[in-house]
Amino acid sequence: MCGIVGYVGSKPAREVLLAGLKRLEYRGYDSAGYSLQLPGELVCRKCQGRVSELEALDSGKAVSSTVGIAHTRWATHGEPSQKNAHPLTDEAGRISVVHNGIIENFKVLRKELQKAGVHFETDTDSEILPMLISQEVGKGKDLFTAVKDALARVHGTYGIVVLSADEPDTLVAARYGSPLVAGIGDGEYFVTSDVAAIVSHTREVIYLEEGEVIKIDLKGISSDNGHSSLIRERIEYVDWDITEIEKDGYTHFMLKEIYSQPESLSNAFRGRLDLEQGTAHLGGLNMSEEEMRSIDRIVITACGTSWHAALIGKYLIEALSRIPVQVEYASEFRYRDPVLTPGTVMIVISQSGETADTLAALRLAAKRKCRTLGIVNVVGSTIARETDAGVYIHAGPEIGVASTKAFTSQVMVLSLISLAFGRARNFLSRKQGLEFAQQIIAIPEKVAKILDNSSEIAEIAREFTYVNNFLYLGRGVNYPVALEGALKLKEISYIHAEGYPAAEMKHGPIALIDEMMPIAVIAVKGAAYDKVISNIEQVKARHGRVLAIATVGDIDIESVSDWVIRVPDTSDMLVPLLTVIPLQLLSYHIAVSRGCDVDKPRNLAKSVTVE
Ligand code: AGP
Repeated sequence: MCGIVGYVGSKPAREVLLAGLKRLEYRGYDSAGYSLQLPGELVCRKCQGRVSELEALDSGKAVSSTVGIAHTRWATHGEPSQKNAHPLTDEAGRISVVHNGIIENFKVLRKELQKAGVHFETDTDSEILPMLISQEVGKGKDLFTAVKDALARVHGTYGIVVLSADEPDTLVAARYGSPLVAGIGDGEYFVTSDVAAIVSHTREVIYLEEGEVIKIDLKGISSDNGHSSLIRERIEYVDWDITEIEKDGYTHFMLKEIYSQPESLSNAFRGRLDLEQGTAHLGGLNMSEEEMRSIDRIVITACGTSWHAALIGKYLIEALSRIPVQVEYASEFRYRDPVLTPGTVMIVISQSGETADTLAALRLAAKRKCRTLGIVNVVGSTIARETDAGVYIHAGPEIGVASTKAFTSQVMVLSLISLAFGRARNFLSRKQGLEFAQQIIAIPEKVAKILDNSSEIAEIAREFTYVNNFLYLGRGVNYPVALEGALKLKEISYIHAEGYPAAEMKHGPIALIDEMMPIAVIAVKGAAYDKVISNIEQVKARHGRVLAIATVGDIDIESVSDWVIRVPDTSDMLVPLLTVIPLQLLSYHIAVSRGCDVDKPRNLAKSVTVE
């Protein structure tokens, strides 16, 4: 999705901006551009395509500029093209704006300005911004005031940074519903929509508040046009560094992230398990045991992979604490009139903490006075800031568009929450809690064992290079894993894949099965094992090709499967943390063998900040 970088300092701004844009490429984009300030003028370059193509354009004399803004665009209004790329300028080319988000009333405003004789060049909603700002500047206002007043006229969401030819060494930035972070360096300042763009320069940041407008110049950052120094008190420290957003010798970020799961999973439970009491303590939850006992119902909402984690959360929370759980797609929840009682707790799950639908669902629940809890990866993100309380998953930056380590860390945190609720509500005994905690502690090593098998999985994956369809089946807590396996394959290999509860297959999808149809079946030892074997028999009877994800030591599975990938044994409720790993590797290796761009799949964005 769109990315923003802005810079004021003494270094060549073009280099800083282009390097920043490259760090944002993982988010997905279709065009890019920058504007640089020179004495009394702006130099703007834009192109459709990659940042490397933007870099190849001649920047002319602007090479010496030390102030500028840059953008990667993911088209919403107006096709991807050089014309529609940001920055967008006013008619005189003296005000330049980069914008993330959507201006909902742009058509009305555009008509108004057109009547007044303003000529628009692009098909974007965003172009209204430089035009409005220019109109305000024309009334004799300084840039900060003009931006503030122009924004008062728009409806929608924005993260913007504005540059003017007439205010040297100054940027004005503002946010509403789209994240922006300011970075403080040594005599230099940054502003970005994603810390990854600036973390090589500084780890001291200020997260802009919703609705805030700031001015950045060589004297610093101020939120009221230079009259306040209070903003320094809001500086936060980014707790990861540049090495975490580098490939580190791996061919793709996705592979690096799959391999980092033993560590990211340990980080998710580190310091949170109480082996004395057989429970988990999650400070961020901010909930007494009494409060945990008073929960009537939990609604979990999320999108995509995070929604799959939510489904696993339902199995976990209901099994361990007997609290009824409802899981909803955030995009559906936000447009319903959901029943939310005072005893309902709303959990929102989001890797990025910026997903527009999830954020809207959260705001709806907050409006209805529900207690809201976030399970979020990106520290300081909007969802993390707007929930009443929450637990960070501590997975570290996830760059691959296809989520892997964030998913397993979300499930890990959900298992900790379930344990805490189960113990507080006395549904689990201390002994049962302790056994569960010990199974949690053993997970990272078991994940590492599966990863050791990557070459075997790569070999199996080659069998599927040219398939057009894939079915994934699982039962119980492994049903969401089947959904997640199918989503991973679709996202990065473009093979059509469906996930189903194994027993549902006979109610329709069985019609698809023939010798061309590969079916991945999660068939680990546990309560539903015999039932799953029957489902496999039904597939085999129709000549389907079965890849079984089975438990180490299960010999019987071989007679009904064409391929078997094994995972170690664990508690029934924690098994998704293991069964999903081979499915992640399978989709990765299939996508690589099909020559797909694994880290930047077509049409996808890492963080979906629009509806
Ligand atoms: C996962 O592989 C996806 N790219 C996507 O489904 C993602 O999980 C979804 O957009 C939700 O994102 P979030 O967790 O950042 O809210």
